[in-house]
Amino acid sequence: MKYPKEYLDEIKTRLKVSTVVSKTVKLKKRGKEFVGLSPFKTEKTPSFTVNDEKEFYHCFSTSEHGNIFDFVMKTQNLRFGEAVKMLSNLAGMQPYTFSKQDLERENKWKIYKSIYQNFSEFYKNELFKNEKSVKAKNYLKERGLSGIEVKNFNLGFVTEDLDYYEKLKKDFDEESIKDTGLFYFDEKRKKYISRFRNRIIFPINDISGNIIGFGGRIIDDNKNLAKYINSPETPFFKKGSNLYNLDKARKLSNKLEDVYLVEGYMDVIGLSKNGIENTVANLGTALTSKQIQILNQFYNHIIICFDGDQSGYKAALRAAENIISELKPDKKISFFLLEKNLDPDNYVNKFGKDKFLEISDQKSKPIHKFIFEHYISHTTESPSSKAIFEKKLREIASNIKDSFVKKYTLEYFLEKVSELTPNINSKFSKNYIKSPKSLAKTKSYYNETKSLKSFEIKEFSFLYTLLAKPKLIRENLHLIDNVKLYSDENKQLFAEILNQSENLLNLDVKKLNVDKNLVNRVMNYASVKHIISKNLNDDQKILEIFTEIIQDLKNYELEQRISELESKFSKDMSENTFNEIKELKKQQKIN
Ligand code: UTP
Ligand code: MN
Repeated sequence: MKYPKEYLDEIKTRLKVSTVVSKTVKLKKRGKEFVGLSPFKTEKTPSFTVNDEKEFYHCFSTSEHGNIFDFVMKTQNLRFGEAVKMLSNLAGMQPYTFSKQDLERENKWKIYKSIYQNFSEFYKNELFKNEKSVKAKNYLKERGLSGIEVKNFNLGFVTEDLDYYEKLKKDFDEESIKDTGLFYFDEKRKKYISRFRNRIIFPINDISGNIIGFGGRIIDDNKNLAKYINSPETPFFKKGSNLYNLDKARKLSNKLEDVYLVEGYMDVIGLSKNGIENTVANLGTALTSKQIQILNQFYNHIIICFDGDQSGYKAALRAAENIISELKPDKKISFFLLEKNLDPDNYVNKFGKDKFLEISDQKSKPIHKFIFEHYISHTTESPSSKAIFEKKLREIASNIKDSFVKKYTLEYFLEKVSELTPNINSKFSKNYIKSPKSLAKTKSYYNETKSLKSFEIKEFSFLYTLLAKPKLIRENLHLIDNVKLYSDENKQLFAEILNQSENLLNLDVKKLNVDKNLVNRVMNYASVKHIISKNLNDDQKILEIFTEIIQDLKNYELEQRISELESKFSKDMSENTFNEIKELKKQQKIN
């Protein structure tokens, strides 16, 4: 039975990992962590670490890894429930008592699972053994599926075996069978009929691999029947909270960075057959935020690859607008739009795995770009059309939950929007430089600066100094060796400055071949502009300031690399990564 997450979290809050572990392992503090001799292996040098902040232990010699529950389960040979009891007691909490409803639900769940399992086994067998399944078998063969895929995905064929309901009734009560949604009552025949009769069935599993529903496809084209049907929603099958093939695809997340999200069962099977197994499908309904949250627990990059027809495009756009709210700084969502009328299944069967991966890599667009490109292509020259465009983009960005991602998505959209008003922009910048600031301008200046990242402002200062004192920097060219900029625009400007001036030999700002706004941004927002202009003739002072700016940029680079490695470490727990982090932190201190 499932303990509520809050109860387990309460135990974790009360008990540090080091507290639990130190009952059996002698621990020594080392920095933020504790180290000791591994309880999983006899050893002389400690390779066992405990991190209270991250709430886990890790043993470098055996790769054992986990939280407090795993620890007592493994070291004391307990089952999960027993571990919870023991640790809640240690934490001074009351043992958890399940309510009557909990017990009833648990009981119903066991029966539900068991009926689905039974149904699946029975009709899997029918697909192989029953003569009436020949047509279904031929159909699968025609679609290029071999026995391997049929077995892997546990496909079945629901023959018209009216006795099966009676068979089930021997083991399960009528009410429970009804609750599965697998049968409906035919008033004419006064019989329960299988909803999936004459269909190939695709079992849909929950995240742990229990069958909770089916998709069913007809095998001959019959205009009167839906091509696919699904199990109806039940207390244990909620379409918006599940994904087809998630139980298998999630297991690959320790090896692979991205996951493909497709429309259909056959797309998942087709990709998988061609060696792309990190694939899931939503279940014939609109994509939900919940489904994105679930995928994000395992994968950092979701590539949505719907059918290359109009309905696929529409579904992709609707999905994009629904789920952009879920974007997080460390997560990515992209859209891979297929060519006319192909779906992932056709595509991969036609071109193969390598081509699929290559093209998906080239063509995938980040979600914000996909949305922008859609709306700009539907915007005409008319002012009201442009107004609708801007409003729509602002509205979409405003739905993003993470305030940082929201800010930069809005910034991206507004930058594009501002390209629609070149005249207003140029008047604005002229007035802005010449006239004293009015209150409104101060406000907008303030808002713009607020949306800039601190490293961008540093980069502006760096570029500002180059533009203000090119000769001086030219004389000290070694200073800018190995300087790395992060913002794409700044990078571009930096490269152009060096290029245009032949490494700062003869800089002419007017001849820079970049968007003028880039230069304006540097001029406006570089935090050093006042101090540099005041000391324009004091080369010594300017070099000091410049060296400081570069130092800050290098520290930022180190910080970035450390945080990348830390997130890598929390996944791979490799000693190399750990040492690399230590090395970088040392460098950071020296700087
Ligand atoms: P498609 O019609 O694109 O499916 O619908 P497909 O996988 O390409 O179909 P075939 O077998 O290759 O012809 C995509 C998904 O939409 C849902 C199903 O989940 C299907 O896998 N769908 C489709 C339905 O729920 N009902 C339908 O009538 C059709
Ligand atoms: Mn399709």
